Amino acid sequence: MSTMAKSRWADDTDDAALEAQLKKEKEERKRQKADKARKLEEERLAREAAAAQAAKAASQGEQGEGGQDDANNAPRAKRRRLSPDRGTPAAGPAHESANSNSDSKLLRFEGGGTFGRCRSVENYDKLNDIEEGAYGWVARAQEAATGKVVALKRLKIDTTDRSGLPVTGLREIQILKDCDHRNVVKLQEVVVGEDTSRIENIFLVLEFVEHDLKSILEDMPEPFLASEVKTLLLQLASGVAYLHDNYILHRDLKTSNLLLNNRGQLKIADFGMARYVGDPPPKLTQLVVTLWYRAPELLLGAARYAQAIDMWSIGCIFGELLTREPLLQGKNEVDELTKIFELCGIPTEDSWPSFRRLPNARALRLPKTTTTKSLIRAKFPLLTSAGASLLNGLLALDPDCRPTAKDMLEHEYFRQDPKPKQEAMFPTFPSKAGQERRRRKTTPNAPIRGQAVELGAVDFSGIFSGRDKEERGGGFSLRMV
Ligand SMILES: Nc1ncnc2c1ncn2[C@@H]1O[C@H](COP(=O)(O)OP(=O)(O)O)[C@@H](O)[C@H]1O
Ligand SMILES: [Mg+2]
Repeated sequence: MSTMAKSRWADDTDDAALEAQLKKEKEERKRQKADKARKLEEERLAREAAAAQAAKAASQGEQGEGGQDDANNAPRAKRRRLSPDRGTPAAGPAHESANSNSDSKLLRFEGGGTFGRCRSVENYDKLNDIEEGAYGWVARAQEAATGKVVALKRLKIDTTDRSGLPVTGLREIQILKDCDHRNVVKLQEVVVGEDTSRIENIFLVLEFVEHDLKSILEDMPEPFLASEVKTLLLQLASGVAYLHDNYILHRDLKTSNLLLNNRGQLKIADFGMARYVGDPPPKLTQLVVTLWYRAPELLLGAARYAQAIDMWSIGCIFGELLTREPLLQGKNEVDELTKIFELCGIPTEDSWPSFRRLPNARALRLPKTTTTKSLIRAKFPLLTSAGASLLNGLLALDPDCRPTAKDMLEHEYFRQDPKPKQEAMFPTFPSKAGQERRRRKTTPNAPIRGQAVELGAVDFSGIFSGRDKEERGGGFSLRMV
């Protein structure tokens, strides 16, 4: 390390001595703790051995377990326990390691040798901030040893919450670590700040990608050509098919989470909401997906949902790629549902048979009208009929009617002229991330855990009342009843 080996990432630019002192004290405390644990363990073993001896003495004369059962082997009970004590209440991994119960032992994995210390963030020099919100932080940086440019993303951690690493952060690391696909951003490593006592100093080192689709859409003077939209959608569907094949739901697909490099390659990023799910998926939180990209079944409180929620988001992204504007910009959950019904039609027994069984659907009052048709065709007059059929499919109210990502890849829209543009022929854009922080219009964020969604009783019966006058709808208001 050079003489400038101080933290460049934390704000505290001085007092290396204090830092060293704190580190020393921490190590000393750790050593004392380990000593104490060892002593307690020795005492426990001695007690167990004595108890075993006594038990053996008591059962003298009864048939033994064979010649092996001698004094030396007495501590069969000493067999190393490989799982935490069953008696202790279940807790997340973060709790387990903080458990002060001297009886419980840490899980140990023998022989693998794959777990090592994280390297320090000091191996990277920060070049510039890409994104700095109240909560998240992403910067462009360069690995000092190799000169390689990367993106550093600070793991989101609420420092006031003492329960350790949030499960979302652990999932983000685990999923990114497992993924290997050209349309999924690559995690190179996880690094930590020098001051390891500060839990917020955990960073993901990601491959650097020049743009995100949202910034491009906001700045481009002309919308993408149909051939470009196709290339982007094919790559998105290919990445999502890979995720779904591997039982991963992304749960926050939107244009700011899709990166595009200067070679026309799209990469799915931001796995902060993602998780592994089984088949069939278990009950899951409905508080996922940024409002404007959130599927109607989530808004209506479905506890069980699956891959189709990501397909809905892809439908919203498709619309946005065509117009450069987010498709369904609801102000809140009720307004979002209103906008969805306005564009895609009111659900009926035919179009979405299980709709009424959803928790928030019971209290909805829908108009008794036959105008349940989708307005998608009218909203996108330039789209070919194959394109409109794909968009209609992705934005089907009934999740079971949406195509899977694999189905989407096979859709005839991509085979029709104009053909998808070759990635290498993609236009390049000036990279904002390469110079300055990305400017953004304010858009909603993914929901935070713990925010409850309660729709209450909602009257949608006025939705289509103004439609004869105004083809595109809008301008109606909802009544809460
Ligand atoms: N690997 C990367 N390369 C370049 N920019 C990135 C990269 N990852 C994220 N970004 C930028 O940072 C922003 C926020 O990152 P993201 O992973 O979406 O975190 P958040 O959870 O804060 O939304 C993205 O919208 C994108 O502009
Ligand atoms: Mg994001």
